[in-house]
Amino acid sequence: MSDKLKIGIIGLGAIGTVHSNAYAANNNDCEITAICDIDETRLASHGERLNVKNRFTDYRELLKSDVDAVSICVWNNLHCEMAVAAFKEGKHVLLEKPMALNATQGEEIVKAAEASGKVLQIGMVWRQHKESQLVRKIIQDGMLGDIYHIRAVLTRRRGIPGLGGWFTTKARSGGGPLIDLGVHWLDISMYLSGLWNPTSVSATTYDMFTSNMKSYNFTSMWAGPPKYDGVSDVEDFATGFVRFGKKATLNFDISWAANLEEERFIQLIGTKGGVKLLHGQPVKVLTEINGQIVDVLPQFACEDEWFNRQKRLFLSACRGECAPAATGREGLVVMKVLDAIYESSRQGKEVVIS
Ligand SMILES: NC(=O)c1ccc[n+]([C@@H]2O[C@H](COP(=O)([O-])OP(=O)(O)OC[C@H]3O[C@@H](n4cnc5c(N)ncnc54)[C@H](O)[C@@H]3O)[C@@H](O)[C@H]2O)c1
Repeated sequence: MSDKLKIGIIGLGAIGTVHSNAYAANNNDCEITAICDIDETRLASHGERLNVKNRFTDYRELLKSDVDAVSICVWNNLHCEMAVAAFKEGKHVLLEKPMALNATQGEEIVKAAEASGKVLQIGMVWRQHKESQLVRKIIQDGMLGDIYHIRAVLTRRRGIPGLGGWFTTKARSGGGPLIDLGVHWLDISMYLSGLWNPTSVSATTYDMFTSNMKSYNFTSMWAGPPKYDGVSDVEDFATGFVRFGKKATLNFDISWAANLEEERFIQLIGTKGGVKLLHGQPVKVLTEINGQIVDVLPQFACEDEWFNRQKRLFLSACRGECAPAATGREGLVVMKVLDAIYESSRQGKEVVIS
């Protein structure tokens, strides 16, 4: 009998496809035995592609099948309901980001996971990028000293995904670029620095482009084409400042659309050194050695593809060999920061994170 973990994938869109390919790349340890999507055409084509016979349009039926673990790759508004149901059926869960629409739902998921004793891993895949891993090691080795400030910037000039579709419909997505992209940047900032105690936020969100679909100019659109009869009620730009008690601060700029240069970095500033994490580029530590101001360029071995690595770590966690690569409790902290950012913008003042 095979001791491979049996995997079910719920949601076979853009990221569900990436998950299926990454499980296939780990096929010594797992096997995709069931898939689910409400789109029957998509379900049939992925069923053929993956050679999976157990195909469901109702996720509850997939959860009744003999899968050991599921990837939940559907719109954000379904994450909580599906994850809680999966834990009730005794399945391990790899849950795409954001873990839920808000911290209240996040808490519900964490409680269900803890009650079941099964693994909950959040899809914070940027942690698995090789440059992220190197920067984490640099920080753990003490090269930056105490980190006291972080700049987290991820800006697109004209990059609203699927205008009028689920991404721009608050009831399905929970928000715009902040919850879509900012969730990764806040997570990775706290993961790298170890600053998991955010205490307050002062932030503002804007909807200069999303509020007027017809006049939005773009050259290409991920998850397009636009649906002008759809909904667009989320922000397109978020900026703000997070305090970690009196110890450290973080400011962020996150956009889908703004009149600015596209940038993507996380800069960590410490008492001994600083580093600007630019994925896909060499890591440079700005520091001092023996009284000299120097730039250090650490060399490192390449890890395998980030989504494959994410699955490998998830499978190991399911077998009880390690902790999940991004825990539900960490996901919940991120959700609390996101909630506080939206609340701070609504109130026009700093809000405390409870
Ligand atoms: N980790 C990452 O970097 C990353 C990247 C992209 C998307 N995501 C996340 O993945 C999730 C999905 O995003 P996407 O871009 O793949 O969206 P998508 O629209 O391409 O795919 C979602 C799929 O879910 C299906 N679906 C909807 N309701 C369903 C239901 N009740 N039961 C079964 N299937 C259902 C849809 O038919 C669709 O095929 C989102 O939470 C998103 O934030 C994460």
